Amino acid sequence: MRKIVIAGNWKMNKTVAESVKLAGEVVAAARDIKHVVVAIAPTHLALAKVAEVVKGSNVKLAAQDVHWENQGAFTGKVSADMLKEIGVEYVIIGHSEQRSYFGETDETVNKKVRKVLSLAMKPIVCIGETLTERKEGRLESVLTTQVNGAYAGLSADDALSTVIAYEPVWAIGTGVTASDDEAQEAHAFVRGLLAKLYGDSVAQSISIQYGGSMKPENAAGLLAQKDIDGGLIGGAALKADSFLGIIAPGEALSK
Ligand code: PGA
Repeated sequence: MRKIVIAGNWKMNKTVAESVKLAGEVVAAARDIKHVVVAIAPTHLALAKVAEVVKGSNVKLAAQDVHWENQGAFTGKVSADMLKEIGVEYVIIGHSEQRSYFGETDETVNKKVRKVLSLAMKPIVCIGETLTERKEGRLESVLTTQVNGAYAGLSADDALSTVIAYEPVWAIGTGVTASDDEAQEAHAFVRGLLAKLYGDSVAQSISIQYGGSMKPENAAGLLAQKDIDGGLIGGAALKADSFLGIIAPGEALSK
């Protein structure tokens, strides 16, 4: 059965020294977590140092982005090989901030997903609608395009190594969370899209995280939903105690 996966997306926060400190606190806080998969995604700059901190713990290392080419003249980018070498297991791909500020498209998401899978890392594929898209009744068409784009050409085996993060853009960093029902409805729709592509049993095995102002106060309600299998956490992941406040209800539900 699918697992609850809770990943902290630190975005452009924390120096290397601060990242090492926070990673150590997360490792300590998550010491007794046995059922939830816990991951943290510091900046690229801090990954190598944080890798040393999480080594041997039950906290997995995640990266915030990757380039799809192996190497070459791509100023500012890092390759999947580079991430793999230092022990990265999960890579966040297609985050709405990448899509809106840095020109990420469904096509580049697909290229990155394939590259990450080819090196046996797990992509966390981010999808989600803007407020305008939701208001205009385009939620389902947006999610359909994003899922079909991200999974284009992927086999069922490939798909089983992915995680999806459904993040309504209007809930990211705003303090506004989708209600339990709104989130569940979108998650069920996304699982239906996966079922169309790969059949029901594969779709039932893929973890779909919720993201967007998830915090200790709303985590239990969201995680209790049938199709919500974890969270991609921004702001609340920047402190070990609030991050643990999201992981703990997930652990309780998984027992
Ligand atoms: P937030 O960010 O928890 O701060 O809303 C979530 C995300 O962007 O992954």
